[in-house]
Amino acid sequence: MFLVATATWGQRQEITLTDDWNFSRVPCDENSWVKVSVPHDWAISGPFDKKWDLQTVAIEQNGEKEATEKSGRSGALPWIGEGYYNRKFTIPSGFDGHAELFFDGAMAEPLVTVNDQMAGRWAYGYNAFRIDITDFVKPGENRLEVSLQNEEESSRWYPGAGIYRPVKLILTNKTHIDDWSLYVQTAELTDKRAKLNVDMMVEGPTEGVTVEFGLYDAEGKIVVGSSSQRNGLVLKDGHLNTSFNIMQPKLWSPESPYLYTLKASLFDKDGRLCDSKTIKTGIRTVRVSREHGFQLNGVTRKIKGVCLHHDLGPLGAAVNKAALIRQIKMMKEMGCDAIRTSHNMPSQMQMDICDSLGMMVMAESFDMWRFPKCKNGYSRFFDDWADKDITNLVLANRNHPSIVMWSIGNEIPEQSNAEGRLLSIRLQGLCHSLDPTRPVTQGLDRVDHALGNGIAQAMDVPGFNYRLPKYAEGIKRLPQGFLLGSETASTVSSRGVYKFPVEITDNSQYSSWAPGYDPKAIKNADGQCSGYDVEYCAWSNLPDDDWRWQDDYDWVIGEFVWTGFDYLGEPTPFDEYWPSRSSYFGICDLAGLPKDRYFLYRSHWNKDQHTIHLLPHWTWPKRKGQVTPVYCYTDYPEAELFINGKSQGRIKKQNDLTPLNSYPSPQDKNRLDRYRLRWNDVKYEPGELKVVVYDEMGKNCGEEVVRTAGRPHHLQLDVWTQQSERSPLTSHLSPLKADGQDLAFVTVSLVDKDGTLIPDAQDQLTFDVQGAGTFRAVCNGDATSLEPFTQPTMKLFNGQLVVVVQAGHEVGDIVLTVSDKKRGMKQRATIAVSR
Ligand code: GAL
Repeated sequence: MFLVATATWGQRQEITLTDDWNFSRVPCDENSWVKVSVPHDWAISGPFDKKWDLQTVAIEQNGEKEATEKSGRSGALPWIGEGYYNRKFTIPSGFDGHAELFFDGAMAEPLVTVNDQMAGRWAYGYNAFRIDITDFVKPGENRLEVSLQNEEESSRWYPGAGIYRPVKLILTNKTHIDDWSLYVQTAELTDKRAKLNVDMMVEGPTEGVTVEFGLYDAEGKIVVGSSSQRNGLVLKDGHLNTSFNIMQPKLWSPESPYLYTLKASLFDKDGRLCDSKTIKTGIRTVRVSREHGFQLNGVTRKIKGVCLHHDLGPLGAAVNKAALIRQIKMMKEMGCDAIRTSHNMPSQMQMDICDSLGMMVMAESFDMWRFPKCKNGYSRFFDDWADKDITNLVLANRNHPSIVMWSIGNEIPEQSNAEGRLLSIRLQGLCHSLDPTRPVTQGLDRVDHALGNGIAQAMDVPGFNYRLPKYAEGIKRLPQGFLLGSETASTVSSRGVYKFPVEITDNSQYSSWAPGYDPKAIKNADGQCSGYDVEYCAWSNLPDDDWRWQDDYDWVIGEFVWTGFDYLGEPTPFDEYWPSRSSYFGICDLAGLPKDRYFLYRSHWNKDQHTIHLLPHWTWPKRKGQVTPVYCYTDYPEAELFINGKSQGRIKKQNDLTPLNSYPSPQDKNRLDRYRLRWNDVKYEPGELKVVVYDEMGKNCGEEVVRTAGRPHHLQLDVWTQQSERSPLTSHLSPLKADGQDLAFVTVSLVDKDGTLIPDAQDQLTFDVQGAGTFRAVCNGDATSLEPFTQPTMKLFNGQLVVVVQAGHEVGDIVLTVSDKKRGMKQRATIAVSR
């Protein structure tokens, strides 16, 4: 018997459940419930304390044999334990359709109850999942409860805690488009024409149902359409497959992220609309091959990528559109064209932004499979959940043109055994079956084992994490004929910190397991790494080492640098030093401020703009007459340095430095001279440091000046909002949206009367926010600071910090006042909030 589809209820409603949640960690205590909005991270307010998730472990991945105390490993924030959320929601009267909840991720092990009935659960905190709640809802008021629990020693970094990504209630007719079934692929692409394949599944009674598709350009004009009547689209068991030809398609790429809109509509037998769904899509192809390496739209390019953990510094894991836009814009301005969502599933919000701003993505899934990397990690779930997790990753994300590759894992211990190959083939095959258009990779660190067990050979894209000296041998054994630097660098530095004498070091003196260990070193440590970008870890290297391989061999198809931004947890090389609680690997610090290394990558990656950046700062009252090396990060090949007008020499980059086939040695004196200009013997004298750069023809192409700072004179406030056309590196006042979520990022710098940064200022500042918004958070980028992010006071770290201000729901002005009580200074910024 056929059930005839009739649109009895109305149109699809997608309601994001943002406000009016109640939250408690102790639900039996009535007074403990507080009102929160989602996305929410219950642990980010702290307090920081080494007792939270204090891990006494040996990090096997780093080669450790004996367990030692790793206090800041997962961020030293109170994310362990249980958390409870509830709220009401309304189902319209007369509703007799299909109801579901979409969670984009909840940390962790969410159990979802609707009207006191268990509606569903998920295990992995990083994945998106859907729950059919049709049988549990009733017209009128309904109650939704979510309980979460986070196990200790379940993470190698700060995972966050709570409903940290959006939740949506989706109401449709009984006859409706299954949300993840609508799938668009660029099946063919020539100069003049693209062929798009579209798949879709209709749930519920389908007898008499007709379907229409429309593809619209960015201006909203229809490009091509098809309908059951005209084109004979037929549903077979609810499934529909069709294709369109698009002439003169506008292609998606990082440089030109053109998006089309696809609209699918269902009509019942009486011609009434029963459901419609709209998605953004881009036309583009991805291919990897021996002959051409990695190709986007048939054009070979090397991936210039960064790895990103999911936390947003002082906002924690709670996703926020403005914060994500700021990150992606910063990375694009550096010349970066790809991110790796290490080591887990991305948020939909982040992928939407990558689509619209133009950022390629390697979407990752797991940091471990069966074999645990930490005691209570994902291994507990792998056997029962891995296939479901990969399925949701691919189904939730496969329409994002930005995603160019799936990753089934990072440094999975099973690389070392035969089972690893079988699991790799299975998970890769699952990705292919759900999405035949994208290649699959995994990040391999035990390269010899992975090659020996045939794992590297089995992957569409063999990804090597570090292990540069293994590249040359590896490529001989890889039938694919190419490899990807799936993780590179792991250089460590702190913004504005410079250590003397300037020496390249792998920091093994700080690690009790390393051959160079010196117990005194950690006792005398200050928890900071040098901003000269000369420090790395026993397993890693410097950007310069990676680039020699990237630049000299076509078969290296690109890299993903560890990492674009500092993140909470994993404070290597100070894993055994308290109070370090966040990473040093970032190209930008935890506040999102660029370290010097940002300009090193920019000088090499950004081919549209020139870079001339000098370091260190030039205010060293105690270093008069002492050797204070000066580095210039520039895309120009040659430069001359002057101190107070006296030449320190004109030097050139050394292009004859070839890739290193052995582990780079800290003693290798020339190691940095292919990509940096360095004056190593400069003696400090206060005044003016000036560099003049020259192109290949010897033509003077510009200069950069750094001056010794005078007395602290005022606080400078640079405001950035997402609506600003400008880069987050510059100040530009444009209004916030009155949506209760939008954020302004205000960089506060203590400067002299001419605007030169006071580079060692550590003043305690306080913040007051009045008017149409609230204080949200503050961060100074100091990995050893225990000042909470959500209190309106913090010390400057090397002259700077970032205050985050949040718009309310009302239109008006926000006035932020920053005060330095000790110096009697005050500065105001007014930020408009509009509709
Ligand atoms: C890698 C690992 C990353 C991070 C990094 C630090 O081996 O994949 O998650 O731990 O080391 O250098």
